[in-house]
Amino acid sequence: MSVVLASSRDELAASCADRRLTAVVMTMGALHDGHAELIRAARRRVGSEGRIIVTDFVNPTQFAPGEDFDRYPRTLDADIDVCAAAGADIVFAPSVEEVYGTSDLSTLGTQVQIEPSPLGFELEGASRPGHFRGVLTVVAKLMHLTAPDLAFFGEKDYQQLTLITQMVRDLRFPIEIVGVETVRESDGLALSSRNRYLSESERASASLIPQALRAVLAAGAQGEQAALFAGLAIVSQDSSIDLDYLVIRDLDLSAAPERGSARVLIAARVGSTRLLDNMAMELGGTR
Ligand code: PAF
Repeated sequence: MSVVLASSRDELAASCADRRLTAVVMTMGALHDGHAELIRAARRRVGSEGRIIVTDFVNPTQFAPGEDFDRYPRTLDADIDVCAAAGADIVFAPSVEEVYGTSDLSTLGTQVQIEPSPLGFELEGASRPGHFRGVLTVVAKLMHLTAPDLAFFGEKDYQQLTLITQMVRDLRFPIEIVGVETVRESDGLALSSRNRYLSESERASASLIPQALRAVLAAGAQGEQAALFAGLAIVSQDSSIDLDYLVIRDLDLSAAPERGSARVLIAARVGSTRLLDNMAMELGGTR
């Protein structure tokens, strides 16, 4: 299947001239099978007559100073191949100037931005100041430019998915947000564009992250604290894992319920690479 590459808003508009059920998959490129799964899920929803746009844009405003914006992998040719194989129709790969009206990164903070709900300042937002303001701003811009009926995001970035769902609800965007289950390596490590930064020994340490989450799930019937201890016992086995947080929350990321469906989320640095993961779980035993 061939894919149309659009680099400007005009090229994008020209390739979307006819009215079709449209889904968008937003990415920062460096595509892997997790992204391909988002595209395949979108194709299942929109059918063969529908249109799938993949945005491929490394968004400067979601990186804090000193983060990996400059070294973030940029692999457009390979990304186009992934999009074609997974069944996308259009890859929208704009420049910073096309999205923000300027390529002067130092001025972007003075532009109008989208303020997240208080959840945007917890967890990832506490460790990465301004991150979710940048994410929501670019997601809103890309929604505006691609005008989709549906937008697909991975559950791997569960807090991002929750905040985008809130934004679309609160700002009344006429777009359905669809979350797609995380794709994992055979040892359970969640696929991520940043996994390619890991050395061989860091990669081995990283496999303890999904193991810790599974330990939390297994101890869920004993309640929140016992479940968290079970997870901490796994990550503390390896001194090269620098844990940022391991928490259990309600499905909307408010405080954990005493019992019932919940989400466990983890963030840790392995070497210089920050890794995130989360899983659905049940808390508390039967009454
Ligand atoms: O999840 C990502 O890759 C990015 O945060 C997103 C949603 C494409 C916005 O830049």
